[in-house]
Amino acid sequence: MAQTRSRPYWLFAATLAGAALIAALSFGLWGMGSDGLQHLTRYTARLAFLIFIVAFSAGALAQLFPSDGTRWLRRNRRYIGLSFALAHFIHLGALTGFFIAIGETPDIVTIVGGGGAYAFISLMALTSNDWSVRKLGPVVWRRLHLTGSYYIWAIFMNSYLGRIARETPPEPRIIFIATAALGFAALGLRIAAWARRRRKPAPAAA
Ligand code: HEM
Repeated sequence: MAQTRSRPYWLFAATLAGAALIAALSFGLWGMGSDGLQHLTRYTARLAFLIFIVAFSAGALAQLFPSDGTRWLRRNRRYIGLSFALAHFIHLGALTGFFIAIGETPDIVTIVGGGGAYAFISLMALTSNDWSVRKLGPVVWRRLHLTGSYYIWAIFMNSYLGRIARETPPEPRIIFIATAALGFAALGLRIAAWARRRRKPAPAAA
């Protein structure tokens, strides 16, 4: 009997609900002006980061700690990755509103570095379907998604490490220490999974 695979579209609804809650709290607590928009920008980046970390570590988790839960994460990486893209485009909307509200433009380094990440996120989201995998071929597809993932990871870490290093971080330093630690833990998992694959290559298909 053919098995139909259910697709967790509810992840998109959950992401939108999370962003709506963040918007309600940001505007409710800090007002509808630049303060509210600044908090919306910060917290949408955090929401996107948490989703990104799950997508970034799903494969390694399933390999190192096999269970129904981690296998579910690996199987549904595509939808988790697309939810990350959705959350991060909400960050883009929030930051655009913020810069309009304060009447400034981001510096060139942020535009180039962050813009590059958005280019990767767009390409990765547009190629997250079976047709694109077939058209690009698994090698090119994997190269794109691998390079994009590490680039996005680096931009997140650059933001968080930068905030830790600041004399006066915008919020308690512990928040940025926790997010940076999460990022490095995810990287550690991927390195551990890679090392195990090298020691024990997958058995050749009969
Ligand atoms: C042109 C592109 C981008 C611009 C102009 C931009 C701008 C901003 C602004 C204005 C903030 C709030 C800063 C504050 O607290 O005052 C922010 C926060 C942040 N952004 Fe973006 N961003 C861009 C792209 C990205 C990308 C691509 C990433 C990650 C891949 C990212 C990750 C973050 C992080 C981690 C924070 C800090 C969140 C926190 O406080 O926990 N941003 N960004």
